[in-house]
Amino acid sequence: MKGTFITFEGCEGVGKSRQIKLLEEYLQKHNIKYYLTREPGGTPVSEQIRNVILDGKNVSMTDECEALLYAAARVQLLKEVVKPKLDAGELVLCDRYVDSSLAYQGYARGLGVEFVEKINDYAIKNFMPDYTLFLNLPPEDAFKRKGGVDKGDRVELSGMDFHKKVYAGYLDLAKKYPSRYIVIDASGEKEETHAKIINALKEKGVL
Ligand code: TYD
Repeated sequence: MKGTFITFEGCEGVGKSRQIKLLEEYLQKHNIKYYLTREPGGTPVSEQIRNVILDGKNVSMTDECEALLYAAARVQLLKEVVKPKLDAGELVLCDRYVDSSLAYQGYARGLGVEFVEKINDYAIKNFMPDYTLFLNLPPEDAFKRKGGVDKGDRVELSGMDFHKKVYAGYLDLAKKYPSRYIVIDASGEKEETHAKIINALKEKGVL
């Protein structure tokens, strides 16, 4: 039996890491086996690529180079970890996946969704998650809650206009892929958001 592949998406500071932690606690409490990984990263090779991408010193990195590096890290993770786990029937949770490339590189960096789809199609052969949990919170609210940007993070330093475009991109993707996307209102308290995630996963028969 094939396992279930669930990805988490959202703008910076929406509380994605915290929600993943709460979901992990829930799964552990209910003895549900899962494997958690992240993008970019999740394998030794992909983590090295991650360091190059996110290094605040790499200001000369072109948008095309960035998009290709994300796709390279992704296919390594997919082949080395995600596919084997799914083939073994496991529940795989991934913090970000190809939708991040579509939103950040396609919409916000301006490379165009078609270009980003094309390189990712080459890398992952349209291998998509069963469900994508999108934590919906506009970047203005997210940065306010987070208390500003992380100055060592090249992506976070891209400016509010950039993050607004990322957000608009995600909303577009959610509209385009309604059966895969689960849109979660992340404006409330963390426990409220957590309850919404659990309910949504129960509704889909994942939990
Ligand atoms: P990370 O510190 O993991 O951020 P977060 O906690 O918000 O997930 O850094 C990942 C960064 O990389 C994040 O700013 C989003 C960006 N990113 C892309 O631009 N494209 C991608 O394809 C992926 C996977 C991430």
